[in-house]
Amino acid sequence: MTGIPSRMRCIEIIKPGAPDVLVLAERPVPQAKVGEVLIQVHTAGVNRPDVLQRLGLYPVPAGASDIPGLEVAGTVVACGEGVQSPRVGDAVCALVAGGGYSAFTTAPAGNCLPLPAGMDFETAAAIPETYFTVWHNVFERGALKAGETILIHGGSSGIGTTAIQLAKAFGAKVATTVGSDEKAEACRKLGADLVINYRTDDFAAVLKASPLRGADVVLDIVGGDYTQRNLDCLNAEGRLVQIAFLQSSKTTVDLRAVMMKRLVVTGSTLRARDTAFKGALAATLHAKVWPLLDAGRATPLIDSVFALEDAAKAHARMESSVHIGKIVLTI
Ligand SMILES: NC(=O)c1ccc[n+]([C@@H]2O[C@H](COP(=O)([O-])OP(=O)(O)OC[C@H]3O[C@@H](n4cnc5c(N)ncnc54)[C@H](OP(=O)(O)O)[C@@H]3O)[C@@H](O)[C@H]2O)c1
Repeated sequence: MTGIPSRMRCIEIIKPGAPDVLVLAERPVPQAKVGEVLIQVHTAGVNRPDVLQRLGLYPVPAGASDIPGLEVAGTVVACGEGVQSPRVGDAVCALVAGGGYSAFTTAPAGNCLPLPAGMDFETAAAIPETYFTVWHNVFERGALKAGETILIHGGSSGIGTTAIQLAKAFGAKVATTVGSDEKAEACRKLGADLVINYRTDDFAAVLKASPLRGADVVLDIVGGDYTQRNLDCLNAEGRLVQIAFLQSSKTTVDLRAVMMKRLVVTGSTLRARDTAFKGALAATLHAKVWPLLDAGRATPLIDSVFALEDAAKAHARMESSVHIGKIVLTI
């Protein structure tokens, strides 16, 4: 791009706190280092980890931008040394370790992926964080296979709506938990076989009494008193994959289920993983999931779109938990 400006608009977290600590600011446009590209950001995804960062509960990894935002879609406007692909002018979506809520951001070239066929920037910005997370945790760590059953907690979340679609696309049966009838309906439309309102029912009892009878994989974001029930409703050789603790990371459990049913308890967090790991994950997603996105067999469910300067409103909506699917900022 000729005429890349020297300064750009972005969102800063002025101190840990409520959404109004997200403030529009101006900073120098970053430069693409070796192996990186500079992206003119059109849209940026909002994720729950951004809320945790704003609250001061999610430290920025060393070397990452302190500007919030873990995923963007936009146009490559400059390439650092050694970058063969993508090229200047390419439309990409990218996983970034921070810096998404801004008019320009840098990304490792290997963490960029092409926009799926016919997809707009608003939808594409909502792909990277949840697709990278779900692929690694459900299909790699959780080793979900066709014909198996997965229980996905928080089915209406960005993570949940992605996990439902991918699990179904790869031939699994899906049970999911939600907090309202409206969210239940949205999850059924995405293909969930069994939807449980955790506010009115005990998810483990309902799942075990259903034709699905149990789960081979549980993808959990809640922890706390869900943990024992997750272990209880896993089938023999089942896998519990922990990716967040919306209730608590601490709980007391009876581990006999792990021994008697030969269970695996695992989990991971994406942001702190190194560039090479994320690049390998990007290549796997391109091979296995991009054909589904290109064909429209999976697509991010967009809840709402806010202007960059309304990032505080976007966070308030996410914290209200009324949203279904992904929240996106346009720059
Ligand atoms: N480990 C990783 O690498 C990684 C990466 C990305 C995200 N995450 C985590 O994954 C989770 C989902 O992220 P997201 O961006 O998709 O968030 P999100 O869209 O804000 O979804 C969170 C959902 O969780 C449900 N929820 C909230 N509190 C709950 C509780 N106490 N019990 C049960 N459900 C509850 C809410 O739906 P209801 O109304 O149905 O309760 C809410 O919509 C977050 O916790 C995030 O930190 C982890």
